[in-house]
Amino acid sequence: MASSHSIQSYSSTDVAMLFEAARRESHESPLTTPKTVALVFFQPSTRTRMSFEIAAKRLGCNTLIETHPTTASSMSKGETLHDTLATVACYADCIVMRHPDEKEALDAVHGLSVPVVNGGWGNWEHPTQTLVDMYTFSRTFEDIRTMTIAIVGDVNTRTSRSLVHLCDTLGVAYRVICHALFETNGRMLQTTGVELRVVDTGESFKEAIRGVDVVYYSNYTGTGQTEADRQIMFRDMHIPLEYLQEVEVSTGKRTHVYSPLPRRVGEMDTRVDGTPFDLSFPAMRYSVELRMALLRRLLEKLPVSA
Ligand code: CP
Repeated sequence: MASSHSIQSYSSTDVAMLFEAARRESHESPLTTPKTVALVFFQPSTRTRMSFEIAAKRLGCNTLIETHPTTASSMSKGETLHDTLATVACYADCIVMRHPDEKEALDAVHGLSVPVVNGGWGNWEHPTQTLVDMYTFSRTFEDIRTMTIAIVGDVNTRTSRSLVHLCDTLGVAYRVICHALFETNGRMLQTTGVELRVVDTGESFKEAIRGVDVVYYSNYTGTGQTEADRQIMFRDMHIPLEYLQEVEVSTGKRTHVYSPLPRRVGEMDTRVDGTPFDLSFPAMRYSVELRMALLRRLLEKLPVSA
């Protein structure tokens, strides 16, 4: 059955088809037969949960939302994750789940009778976020295959992990830049085969991002480092609005700043928000049409990936 567990199952043709469908969504009608989409979130979420909810509603679907399953569902009485999801599958036509452990999630969804969308599983993958990221870039740049992305920050995250896979699939150039204080995390992302640049000052960071089209701040996991180290990383990887303006004037090329969000205070210059350099907030609008296109195909039992 069509599901969406990993970005690694998407071919470049699958992605192109989904992006074309997302562009058409504003002109499409709701589904002829109303369906139900269940949102089961074991971890907090703002964007993923709300954009899937609004996407489902714009398709004319009902939603079942459980945001505290371990305390508010019968899992609190010892029910297994699989039995809980098998029950949800009796009430819903599709399940979107966020879970802190990818192995538990993958075991539990095995054999379910409805498609399951990975809404962020452990530190493994967040495939629909990556589709939103790349869809946003495809709406911004004429040809994503001529752009370069710098993946920066606490790079060992599920969003970065999915992004490097999708870049590899689509032939999008990227470089991964981590702070020396976070080198261990960078080396963990390297298991996917990426080239890593390690920086330790604001100047070396600016040198490393020179010429890229998008600086992608991978969303922050909060693991492994002290708060003092995080503050040093935020300081050294901070890009002030004035710097973006100066680079555009001196090179004629715009550097965009993007984060799948959430971000921490001090991590990014919030004065960039709403300027032509910002892609994080435009992505919110694109996320709804992308997730509508994905849900439409899953609910109509059409394939979404190989
Ligand atoms: N980008 C993202 O997954 O955000 P949320 O955690 O708010 O869903």
